[in-house]
Amino acid sequence: DAEGETAPAPNRHQNRSSETLGETVVPTQFFNEPDTDPSLPANQEWVRKIIAEATAPGYLDDRPNAPKVESTDALDAMIARGRAAAADWRALGAAGRAEILHRAADIFAARRGEFIAVEAAEVGKMPSQSDPEVSEAIDFIRYYALNSLELENLEGATFTPDEMVVITPPWNFPVAIPTGGTVAALAAGSAVIHKPSKPTPHCSALIIDCLWQAGVPKDVLQLCAPIERELGQHLVSHPDVDRVILTGASETASLFKSFRPELHVNAETSGKNALVITPAADRDLAMADLVYSAFGHAGQKCSAASLGIMVGSTYDSERYRRQLIDAASSMVVDWPSNLASTMGPLTEDPSDKLRRALTSLEPGESWLLEPKQLDDSGRLWSPGIKDGVKPGSFFHLTEVFGPVLGLMHAKDLDEAIEFQNAVDFGLTGGIHSLDPGEVSTWLDRVEVGNAYVNRGITGAIVRRQSFGGWKQSSVGLGSKAGGPNYLMLFGHFADAGSQN
Ligand code: ALA
Repeated sequence: DAEGETAPAPNRHQNRSSETLGETVVPTQFFNEPDTDPSLPANQEWVRKIIAEATAPGYLDDRPNAPKVESTDALDAMIARGRAAAADWRALGAAGRAEILHRAADIFAARRGEFIAVEAAEVGKMPSQSDPEVSEAIDFIRYYALNSLELENLEGATFTPDEMVVITPPWNFPVAIPTGGTVAALAAGSAVIHKPSKPTPHCSALIIDCLWQAGVPKDVLQLCAPIERELGQHLVSHPDVDRVILTGASETASLFKSFRPELHVNAETSGKNALVITPAADRDLAMADLVYSAFGHAGQKCSAASLGIMVGSTYDSERYRRQLIDAASSMVVDWPSNLASTMGPLTEDPSDKLRRALTSLEPGESWLLEPKQLDDSGRLWSPGIKDGVKPGSFFHLTEVFGPVLGLMHAKDLDEAIEFQNAVDFGLTGGIHSLDPGEVSTWLDRVEVGNAYVNRGITGAIVRRQSFGGWKQSSVGLGSKAGGPNYLMLFGHFADAGSQN
């Protein structure tokens, strides 16, 4: 990060229960929104009330929801409305749009508790995970609003935004990721149709509600409920849709392309991510980061650490093993009954791949900590750690998206990098080592979009760690979310002198 370029966060009071929406002051420099301080008793009480309300039956019934779209005609009408509204939105100019978006950032901050409640009710996400997500959503809004001013003022090139962009976000980060794609397109000057993922229509509806409240016109930003495959195919095949932003499976990205090859699809897809730990690591830090990266949000993150690649003596070390088992087995998995839980439930029933990972061992593997199903829902599991994962095996190469960590033994750093790069994906990865030589060797050779040193491998921070993968983790993405070039995806450049 370039020192001095980031403005300090304003001196926001941290008692969330007294947060109010004041006048919007348009910032001239970017700052990261602070998370809620959970050590303050006022904030603990605030969260307790939110969760009590959110987990009561019927909570979602009177929350904003995404309207159903029943026919291809209705979709055609939405696309036509959006395209017709795009010209005026573009004519506002970057500064006009940015002013509305900065207002939206303040509204998100004032309505933080609603986001935490809806996430808890809709996908069982705990405040320790959803609160930073709200901060990230606010960061995306402010960052892209500021970037759009630069994009408009580039010398020697004129940026023409897409007219119609479809956003199809995932359910695992149902606030930050859907907000990011949507506000990036809006900041660039495009009209948006936002189609939530199946489990999270209320999270999307709340995002859109806040953006409308800030002044984004309803035809520029339209929302439809999750739709069945036939309607989805109609939407992404439509010749008046310029671009689809997808976060989901690689297969879905290929499917969209097969519907209409000339469609621009920008997709953030799967990951099978590893944290390498060498004998030169700070053991306490490495174990804490491995456990958090593996089991945060029950491992349901494309960025999660699914593999710990233990180099040389770290693999057999009794201290490492004891510390890892202690840290994972002391996690409290009793959400929402116990607000002090440290790991929550799965959002969906385990997929076949996840079930295989949770309930069986491949040749050569053993359980360091066997995961247990904790209730009849099938969605509450204690964390599991597999020992002896073999190169080329199912668990080495397959994304499972749940609370299972596999340990691999590499004889040296070269072999660890070989294991890490052998997967088809390349989203996140990390190394824990205090040896600068090891770190620079690893950085030169690791094939991931987000390479982290002596840090966990989830929770990228907007602007500091722009987020995006390579290899099969990314389709059609030349630039990363939360980074300086992301808005350029949403349109094309013409030379200032050109007639086109
Ligand atoms: N951006 C999310 C993370 O970094 C996926 O964990």
